[in-house]
Amino acid sequence: MSEVVVPDTKDWTWVLDRPCPECGYDASAVTVDRIPEVIRDSATTWEAVLTLADAAVRPEPGTWSPLEYACHVRDVNRIFAVRVGLMVDEDEPTFPNWDQDETAIEERYAEQDPAVVSVELLDAAAAVAECYESVPPGAWSRRGFRSNGSEFTVESLGIYHLHDLVHHAWDVRLAAARATVEAYDASAAAFRDGTARESIDPMVTGYAAAVGVGSRILEIGSGGGRDAKALESVGLDVRRTDVSVGFVELMRADGYPADVLDPLTDDLDDPERPGTPYDGIWANASLLHVERGDLRVVLRRLADATAAGGLLRFSVKEGDGERWSTHGHVAGPRRFTFWRAEPLRELVQGAGWDVEAVDPYLGFQSDQIWLEVRARKA
Ligand SMILES: C[S@@+](CC[C@H](N)C(=O)[O-])C[C@H]1O[C@@H](n2cnc3c(N)ncnc32)[C@H](O)[C@@H]1O
Repeated sequence: MSEVVVPDTKDWTWVLDRPCPECGYDASAVTVDRIPEVIRDSATTWEAVLTLADAAVRPEPGTWSPLEYACHVRDVNRIFAVRVGLMVDEDEPTFPNWDQDETAIEERYAEQDPAVVSVELLDAAAAVAECYESVPPGAWSRRGFRSNGSEFTVESLGIYHLHDLVHHAWDVRLAAARATVEAYDASAAAFRDGTARESIDPMVTGYAAAVGVGSRILEIGSGGGRDAKALESVGLDVRRTDVSVGFVELMRADGYPADVLDPLTDDLDDPERPGTPYDGIWANASLLHVERGDLRVVLRRLADATAAGGLLRFSVKEGDGERWSTHGHVAGPRRFTFWRAEPLRELVQGAGWDVEAVDPYLGFQSDQIWLEVRARKA
């Protein structure tokens, strides 16, 4: 396999006309008022990804490492700040040429310090977000030209810029998911101890009554094991799983069998009853870490692993978009995907489940509305 990253000579301006089939970015759905917010949000993804111990390691020889992508994104933000400034200050400027692949080699992206790049990227994102915020209302249609002749307005440049950021965050999505898991690994005991006394008993009792005593339940994201104990105390038979090795080791040390399992990619078959579907799925506050575009696949895989009529119960945070956060008992950054009731209901229904309810409730911290989904395998 080649160790050389193939130079990107494609003209990406088509993303202004149709959705990107890879990252899903849809320029027609973006308005200029959202540009600064998306730029700032995107920078927090890189801040998290650059905390990974292997941020400088390429996933394959010919693909940039998260560090190299981060350097590129930092420089994209810097270049676009210059371009917006030129378009506002001068009439129909032609932008100086920028060869991104030459820059990566000349600037030795692969050898830069991830901690330094993280700060530089946040600064560059803040600076270019401010540039867009200070575009005078009448100036969004001012024109500028790339050295290859492509014509932009300030508006189309901004919307084109966002695709670059969204697409590169998509390029490192596996590393981003790992950053969330590593944050849990590092704080597993603190999370278990800090959440042990949060009572979810009414939900557990209701679930047990609906699924039936003796039912075999697959738990996704058991965390510190609080819910599994509660479910067992009302007569259910729980398979504890978590994508975080830290949690799995902790549960084992506490004397419970537990498996490392990613519901997006791993075999969901029950090792204790091979080939026999589960009677239900319990996933409290775990599927909120699944990327929006992956949740349908996860729900479909869970449906395939569940007997007809089996009961799915999961919870996510209500809201819009995605955000990284360091709140609660976990020190490292975790990415949360927020959901609204109706699109979530449609998604679950379309993934092999009959939705019984999508109910809002107030979380333990009382500052967040959650959505509890209950659905039967169709
Ligand atoms: C907020 S904790 C909730 C843990 C436990 N269910 C509870 O309610 O206390 C989130 C859980 O989701 C798991 N998780 C992280 N990324 C995940 C992913 N991509 N898919 C499924 N679970 C994930 C974490 O390891 C963790 O156990």
